[in-house]
Amino acid sequence: MSAPHKEPPPSCAIVIFGANGDLTKRLIIPALYNLARAGNLPEQLALIGVDHNDRTSAQWQGALRDFLAQSLAKGGGGAIDDKLWNPIAEDMTFLKGDFEKDETYKQLGDLLADLDKKRNLGGNVLFYMAVADRFFGPIAGKLGEAGLVRQDQGGFRRLIVEKPFGHDLESAKALNACLLKYLKEEQIYRIDHFLGKETVQNIMALRFANGLFEPIWNRDRIDHVQITVAENIGIEGRGNFYEKTGALRDMVPNHLFQLVAMTAMEPPVSFDAEDIRAKKAEMFKAVHALTLGDVVRGQYDSGVVAGQQVAAYRKEENVAPDSNIETFVAMRVLIENWRWAGVPFYLRTGKRLAARSTEIAIRFKRAPYALFRETPVEELDADWLILRVQPDESIRLRFNAKRPGPAMALESVAMEFKYKDWFHQAPAVGYETLIYDCLIGDATLFQRADQVEAAWGVVEPVLKGWANTSPRHFPNYNAGSEGPSAANDLLARDGRSWRTIK
Ligand code: BG6
Repeated sequence: MSAPHKEPPPSCAIVIFGANGDLTKRLIIPALYNLARAGNLPEQLALIGVDHNDRTSAQWQGALRDFLAQSLAKGGGGAIDDKLWNPIAEDMTFLKGDFEKDETYKQLGDLLADLDKKRNLGGNVLFYMAVADRFFGPIAGKLGEAGLVRQDQGGFRRLIVEKPFGHDLESAKALNACLLKYLKEEQIYRIDHFLGKETVQNIMALRFANGLFEPIWNRDRIDHVQITVAENIGIEGRGNFYEKTGALRDMVPNHLFQLVAMTAMEPPVSFDAEDIRAKKAEMFKAVHALTLGDVVRGQYDSGVVAGQQVAAYRKEENVAPDSNIETFVAMRVLIENWRWAGVPFYLRTGKRLAARSTEIAIRFKRAPYALFRETPVEELDADWLILRVQPDESIRLRFNAKRPGPAMALESVAMEFKYKDWFHQAPAVGYETLIYDCLIGDATLFQRADQVEAAWGVVEPVLKGWANTSPRHFPNYNAGSEGPSAANDLLARDGRSWRTIK
């Protein structure tokens, strides 16, 4: 996580595997364009796209430019600014190649050597695997065998790996082993795009740049934490992917656990990547492995979302009519360390819920006794600190205040800081910081091998348990609702309840 835009990263080549894919056009290219606007692109940049289709470099460039133009227009961003686009487009080369054939890497090596000579790139190359996860291992292996990730000639060689990183503990370990055969840990940048969100990065600022919060950030003052990543969209035509994945794998060991880590980690001794990653890894070690009793799963039925009637999950394209895949998961996570012992973290995520809402809600303990006769202690609202990650990014503190009038009557009120009111934010797709950090070699926002494995380790017993037991009563929540009633029971058991999803 870089300091406010210092200087452009060193000149380099970026090689995108999956050049014709969705990620490239929707996120990588727009992020590069936004980096150009902020003056954060390398002085010399050569972009190479690798994919299996027939395309010329000019066609590739044209297709990306058209898509960018359309998205800018749709988002009210006006026309493409050629001053920003030209440095990206100047050396865009498309290489048709099979990701699993040696020939592709031979050609890639020659191309890189040529471009390096022509553009003086200092031997720096960033390889971006914007491809289906089955190709991660093969591409890394082929790059390794071709000697393309060796750093002994000067210049950096880095590899960005997208999600999903494995589908269980064993496959994550195998993938790590495969990457680490040819690359050193510091060359590997495992992306979790939640860490690219400003509001997620701000959790560290809130906690560690203020003297106010850290002293009360523990089991003495906090009753419990609720983390919600609710989506109102369905599976968006990704039936084939989702049928193999489900909500737990798709969202929990990665995105939700990153939110837990940001909230629960100990303060690092510095903002150095290794110090922060070490604290996160330590926190994951303290997380108690889940049991089936700690987790609830759900699947959406038909219902009404934002005024529209929508179909049940089992009726979605490429979904089995009797599918047992979960589209919702809620769980109780315990962190067994001095700070958090006895403070449950309740997590939930799901598709087709009442609203799109990602938040971390910290509930403080109640005032200890009923000083206010009119308001018995059990009726006093507890204080909440709510970090709203998206949409309407904000931080809100709810507390009790006296209602004006002769009686000492209380009401829960709120103080709120809204990002959009305070800061002028430049347009962003959420990948700008991640790509920039990778170009300057700052791994703070990327996951280390041990973190990924520890996170899979926590959910592993549930994955295994679910593989042997069919869920009962699927589908068990209506689209547009707040999820299955069993999720409410999970908290009710502890005398608590979820915040409304809105
Ligand atoms: C992705 C998941 O990683 O994150 C999707 O595969 C999910 O299923 C998405 O919709 C949510 O990300 P965001 O940034 O839209 O909140």
